[in-house]
Amino acid sequence: MEKFIINGGNKLNGFVRISGAKNAILPIMAASLLAEGKSVLENVPQLNDIKMMAHLLRIIGARVDFNNDVMEIDSTHCSFCEAPYELVSKMRASIYVLGPLLARFGEAKVSFPGGCAIGTRPVDLHLQAMEALGTEIRIEHGYISARSSGLKGNKIDFKISSVGASANALMAAVIAKGKTVIENAALEPEIGSLIEFLNLMGARISGKDTRRLVIEGVAKLEPVRMKMIPDRIETGTFLAAAVITGSDITIENCNPDHIKVPINVLKKIGCRIDTGSDLIKIKSPKQIKPTTIRTLPYPEFPTDLQAQFTAMLSLADGESRIEENIFPDRFMHVAELNRLDADIGVINNSAVIRCVKKLSGAPVMATDLRASAALVLAGLAAQGYTEISRIYHIDRGYDHIEQKLQKLGADIRRIKG
Ligand code: UD1
Repeated sequence: MEKFIINGGNKLNGFVRISGAKNAILPIMAASLLAEGKSVLENVPQLNDIKMMAHLLRIIGARVDFNNDVMEIDSTHCSFCEAPYELVSKMRASIYVLGPLLARFGEAKVSFPGGCAIGTRPVDLHLQAMEALGTEIRIEHGYISARSSGLKGNKIDFKISSVGASANALMAAVIAKGKTVIENAALEPEIGSLIEFLNLMGARISGKDTRRLVIEGVAKLEPVRMKMIPDRIETGTFLAAAVITGSDITIENCNPDHIKVPINVLKKIGCRIDTGSDLIKIKSPKQIKPTTIRTLPYPEFPTDLQAQFTAMLSLADGESRIEENIFPDRFMHVAELNRLDADIGVINNSAVIRCVKKLSGAPVMATDLRASAALVLAGLAAQGYTEISRIYHIDRGYDHIEQKLQKLGADIRRIKG
């Protein structure tokens, strides 16, 4: 197992280029199953989650070629309608094949996703959507077995906004017979980007960027080529890296519109931020002001930046608070940050982040993807050496993070464990 060794204290400077958004690419890869023929995705980073989804598509029978940042998915010869336990247990997003397989083949068998480091994550809304479209679902032997003799459009009213369930509902409804209306659909940019991809394939979805999506089912979709959107969570992570190290950097190839609320938080704590159409320049304050943040569905503050902003606010000049409203138990990083001399407590679903003058390096352990990023940020600011183990978590979702940080001037190395 590999580790990161960080010698903290270096200021960052220069430019960093943001990669394609993992969470937009995963459902789009699954959506490629909907059309026979070869779809081409551009701006795809070599991340472990993306390689895992490619593996799943190959098991299903697709041909996937992935060179540099271009992925070609030819789903002409797909026939095996199953997402096995071995893959789903490693990557929950495997459930994205449920909707497309049902739509194309009328059947799907997907291992029932189990527990997760960021808390309980049910899939009832995914199943509710499939049932509304005329699917018979059985849960047996740890698998979701879904079967339909032809999907039919219907009304799907989500009681809470879910990115994954909205994506699955869309991918099934596009070739269902008749009209589907999804109420309380997720507004996340990853859903917007999936809608663009599906419409490019020939789907008829209206209401993009609103909570009400109307889908007129079509008989057939065609394969297409599309460039993937930049990763807003990677963007926010590099912004927090600049602030925690008191640095000024420029972030390129990003979409500032996708991260307006985190940018406003950064302005409130004293940063100067200038944005262009695809870049953000950040100038960090000498002293970070404390603040209060609430994670909520998009366009509010994303849960996927909670851990990184918690690390950053541990050096603020006073007490901050972050309320976690999406995954209320998502605080595994707190105990590890406290090993680096942060002073953070958890009360119910809130982190209370008390002011410390400095962080100090120590061995710590990554527990999930975003928690690992928080530990990297803390290590960059800590005095002395921080050793982060289990960094396979970070390789799931950050594209060469240590190389990007090295280019900015950080002293971070990857070593064999
Ligand atoms: C996606 C992202 C994840 C991000 C999350 C919230 C991917 C691969 N993952 O996860 O990084 O943290 O959005 O922005 O894109 N819920 C239910 N029943 C369901 C589904 C969800 O109760 O069937 C609840 C969840 O427990 C959570 C809330 O809905 O409280 C939102 O979760 P959801 O948007 O579905 O998250 P994911 O799609 O799993």
